[in-house]
Amino acid sequence: MTALFDLIAARIRRRGPLSVAEYMELALGHPKYGYYRTRDPLGRAGDFITAPEISQIFGELLGLWCADTWQRMGEPDPVLLVELGPGRGTLMKDALRAAAIRPAFRQALHVHLVETSPVLRAAQRKALGDAPCWHDSLKTVPRGPMLVLANEFFDALPVHQFVRTERGWRERVVTLDAAGERLAFGLAERPTKAQRHLPARLADAPVGTEWEVSPIALDLAAALAHRVVEDGGAALVIDYGHVLGGPGETLQAVRGHQRHEPLVEPGTADLTTHVDFAALAEAAEAAGAACHGPVTQRAFLLALGLDLRLATLMKTASPAQAPLVESGARRLIEPGGMGTLFKVLALADPKLSDLAGFLP
Ligand SMILES: C[S@@+](CC[C@H](N)C(=O)[O-])C[C@H]1O[C@@H](n2cnc3c(N)ncnc32)[C@H](O)[C@@H]1O
Repeated sequence: MTALFDLIAARIRRRGPLSVAEYMELALGHPKYGYYRTRDPLGRAGDFITAPEISQIFGELLGLWCADTWQRMGEPDPVLLVELGPGRGTLMKDALRAAAIRPAFRQALHVHLVETSPVLRAAQRKALGDAPCWHDSLKTVPRGPMLVLANEFFDALPVHQFVRTERGWRERVVTLDAAGERLAFGLAERPTKAQRHLPARLADAPVGTEWEVSPIALDLAAALAHRVVEDGGAALVIDYGHVLGGPGETLQAVRGHQRHEPLVEPGTADLTTHVDFAALAEAAEAAGAACHGPVTQRAFLLALGLDLRLATLMKTASPAQAPLVESGARRLIEPGGMGTLFKVLALADPKLSDLAGFLP
């Protein structure tokens, strides 16, 4: 058992079951024992690997996308380059190197990083130096024209889960088993406040239907939308998820590159859910933004010139590097793997048109 298990069990005994969203918040973000507060989870020695850690081409192409979008915005100076959940800072480092292709853009941009993990903030400082400003949330990022990057960020935001029962919708909760020794899923006895987030069209869904909603993710999409509409710019969301939200529960835990039970040893495994891109787009459009995509990561990166960049890198790669450079780039666009499981959505100022990577 972990210290976080003891804390969660004591809280359940005192105040009753937690929602799945409360459980995710504690398991990932508890200030002392939360998964992201205590470790660097990325890479071979960690729990999972992300696109920028697989190939430098990922960050480079996103940097070029930013430079191109900045031009479409009318080249504002200054412009904020914001990253949500920057991991080790690898994506931003690669993006900034590529952005230098437009020196005026590189000089105009100010980097703001939204990161709650002290361990990963230290890694970001090592990669990027002291120039960026760090924030705990988007709220403290200054206003102004901005470009926002969020890779594998939204999938870590807490979700509420619901099940349609004979008695109507009930929220899934995390409680203790009969012996009081393990965490177990259950259902709330009565309707909960969070049920107001269930789409009205689901009122008559068949018994057994499951549904997930992330109010935090929807609020963030709306906040990003307000900013890009009022101040100019665009936000790029890249994540594992559905183009169209549908029924089902998708909470999963990963530890040491293996699937793990989400309720076992909380705080020691990454917890994610599939991102509901349709719901994000709806929230952003309701706030006045124009949405581009979602398209698959494969389509997006190929449209931005992955093949060309790969060919250039291969020219200077040593015989030992070449197979790794090639396999990394291929993995980013692999059909049936990252290339199609990951989707890309832009939430943009409606005055921007023809954003790179989204044209048919
Ligand atoms: C899966 S990692 C992705 C890292 C990076 N974007 C990449 O692609 O390598 C999730 C990142 O989001 C950060 N994070 C998770 N939840 C957060 C929250 N609620 N607020 C701010 N940062 C958060 C983590 O510390 C980490 O940097």
